[in-house]
Amino acid sequence: MFQDKKLLLAITGSIAAYKSILLTRLLVKAGAEVKIVLTPAACDFVSPLTLSTLSKNNVVIDLANNESWSNHVQLGRWADLMVVAPLTCNTLAKMAHGLCDNMLLATYLSATCPVVVAPAMDEDMWHHPTTIANLKQLEAYGNKVIPVNRGELASGLYGDGRMAEPEAIMQYIQEHYFARQDLAGKKALVTAGPTYEPIDPVRFIGNHSSGKMGLAIAEELARRGAQVQLVLGPSSVTTAVANIKVHKVQTAQEMFEACMKVFPTSDIAVMSAAVADFTPATTNAEKIKKTAGSLTVELTKTKDILKALGQEKRSDQLLVGFALETNNEKEYAREKLTAKNADMIILNSLNDEGAGFGYDTNKITIFERDGGELTYERKPKQQVAHDIVDRIVNRLYA
Ligand code: CTP
Repeated sequence: MFQDKKLLLAITGSIAAYKSILLTRLLVKAGAEVKIVLTPAACDFVSPLTLSTLSKNNVVIDLANNESWSNHVQLGRWADLMVVAPLTCNTLAKMAHGLCDNMLLATYLSATCPVVVAPAMDEDMWHHPTTIANLKQLEAYGNKVIPVNRGELASGLYGDGRMAEPEAIMQYIQEHYFARQDLAGKKALVTAGPTYEPIDPVRFIGNHSSGKMGLAIAEELARRGAQVQLVLGPSSVTTAVANIKVHKVQTAQEMFEACMKVFPTSDIAVMSAAVADFTPATTNAEKIKKTAGSLTVELTKTKDILKALGQEKRSDQLLVGFALETNNEKEYAREKLTAKNADMIILNSLNDEGAGFGYDTNKITIFERDGGELTYERKPKQQVAHDIVDRIVNRLYA
């Protein structure tokens, strides 16, 4: 993942520094060359010996020791990326205002590579206006900030301020700096979220889809270079990832129309929306009053978007569908492959814990046209999206 990348890890004096030991190990394991610079205060929390052993490089702490001067300019020019993790309030303030009273700060000020920081502090410090202003200042310099987590803090309090976990930092770095551009020049259509089928001006038939899985797929495709058109049903999810054009729709019919328009110019289409299968035959113009003892709403079938795209599909296009099942999962998923002329069907079963609607995790099995079947562990939806896009790339260039 980080093969031949040069990472400069800068560690400041926070209890979260113990996580940087694991971060060092993960970076080295992923193929990066790691050099480490510490503030003197960081040495109270982690041992330079541990870090130099794990990074296989000498660590740097002082601007000068007895005989020699440490070349901070060289260090900042050597790196592809400088990662300050953990970043304390004190070093944050110094970075924001250009102070230079230790080796780490001198390296930061002379670094020509991008810089990303992972703050760690107590909740009240995190929410202090000075901290907020200093972080904004860093961002204004072009540095990126990895959001803190909420949880137990060193003070014993519970709240915002925990440094992101090493695995999350790795993922952030990979996504923001070293993402593979294996879909550059490709165009992708993604559907996400539920659809709402109106009964009258205040009521609708909908479902529990959050849109998170589809959004994660759209973002992963975009990060890897594709130009993405996301047709999104009513959902509160938003994205800051570039290269994603969002088309907001409400009903299955609107989603169908948007997809039919975009599909002919798409190389890849991933249908992850939970489209309503039925819609009211008529929509009452006025709110239905509860005067009658019962109410029957006649429903008609919506258009099956995946199936319609399957019928239009050219040999140079790749079509991916989802199957959300509660029983006979594998059999139904395989049937959908042929019935909808899809190249891949991603199965998630409501029987799996932590999978499906509303969760931040998912557990999938991918069924492929040539009989391939791949089952994955339960993972955060971003990582599931990564696995799915890996398979898409694999098939696209097969
Ligand atoms: N789908 C679609 N248009 C619809 C219904 C579903 O494009 N009107 C797509 C979904 O986005 C998903 C796939 O079809 O990719 C499977 O959806 P699912 O609801 O599991 O299956 P259905 O085709 O609706 O079949 P059934 O309800 O019989 O399981």
